[in-house]
This record gives sequence, C-alpha cells and structure tokens, in this order.
Amino acid sequence: MEKREVNIDYFVCRNSFPEGYESLCRAAIEASRKAYCVYSGFAVGAALLLDDGTVITGSNQENAAYPSGMCAERTALFHAGAQHPGRSVKALAIAACRDGIPREEPVAPCGACRQVMAETIKRHRRDFDLILIGNRESLLVKASALLPFTFTLPDTKNA
Ligand code: THU
Repeated sequence: MEKREVNIDYFVCRNSFPEGYESLCRAAIEASRKAYCVYSGFAVGAALLLDDGTVITGSNQENAAYPSGMCAERTALFHAGAQHPGRSVKALAIAACRDGIPREEPVAPCGACRQVMAETIKRHRRDFDLILIGNRESLLVKASALLPFTFTLPDTKNA
C-alpha cells in the first residue's frame, strides 16, 4: 500500500482583500443584501469575474420547499453559463454577511457548489481564484483545490 497526500495551499489576507480583487469583494458583500434568506437568515453574496472583465453577482435564493433554494455561488455560476457561455471564470468572491457586513469567519462553499465549480474549470479548461471573505481575514485559494477526487464523466460532450 502506498500513501499519497492531497495538500491545499491558500493565502490569508488580514484586514484586507487580496490584491486586485478589492472591487470584486465589495461586489460580493453588496450582493448579499439581495439574498432571499427568510428561512435561514443566512445571507450570502457571490461575485464572479469573467475573462472579459464582466462581473456577475448572485445571492442565495431560498424556498419554502427547502431543497428548491439555491446558493449564492451557483446562482452566479449558472447565470454566467446561461448568459456568457463562451467566457471563462477568472475569480469568484464569496461573503456571508449580516446587513451587508461580512461575518467573522470566511464562508466556504458547500459540496454542491464545489462540484459546479469543478465543472466550470473542466468546461473552460481554466482554474480560477476563490476568495472567501471574512470580517477580519479573507482567504485566497484555487477553486480546484477545494474538491479533490472530483466526479466527472469521461468523454462528455463539450467537455
Ligand atoms: N449558502 C450559500 O448561498 N452559499 C454557501 O456557500 C453556503 C450556504 C446558503 C444556502 C442557504 O440559503 C443558506 O446559505 C443556509 O445554508
């Protein structure tokens, strides 16, 4: 039996946003104000930067039938796929906020959002930066790092 390891490199930015991503982070925070989160009270905003500079924002949209709701990240990613299918993603910033102020701890995307991010990387053959915003510190990590052993179908059309 051979031991192998998966390591995740990430950067911590204290009391600041990662360089070059300040306005993207502010857009994610602002997007959280549009969350429809009447059931959880947990507002999340996401801002996606495309390769042509377009910024797409999303927020979580909940539903009385709970599983029918959608996370902020996938709201933004699916919008990008629907409206800008040819554009690759450069970065995605995520913020969980109270009244437009980031919570203390940076929010990490759920498993379903990680799976959609993995498909986005595969689709455009381009990894992207993920910025997880917290009130005191933000984390910068490659999207690909968050889902090792990703499920993919071989020989998928358009893949
Ligand atoms: N949520 C997101 O929008 N993104 C995350 O990264 C974590 C969770 C939403 C889903 C649900 O509306 C609420 O937060 C509580 O789970």
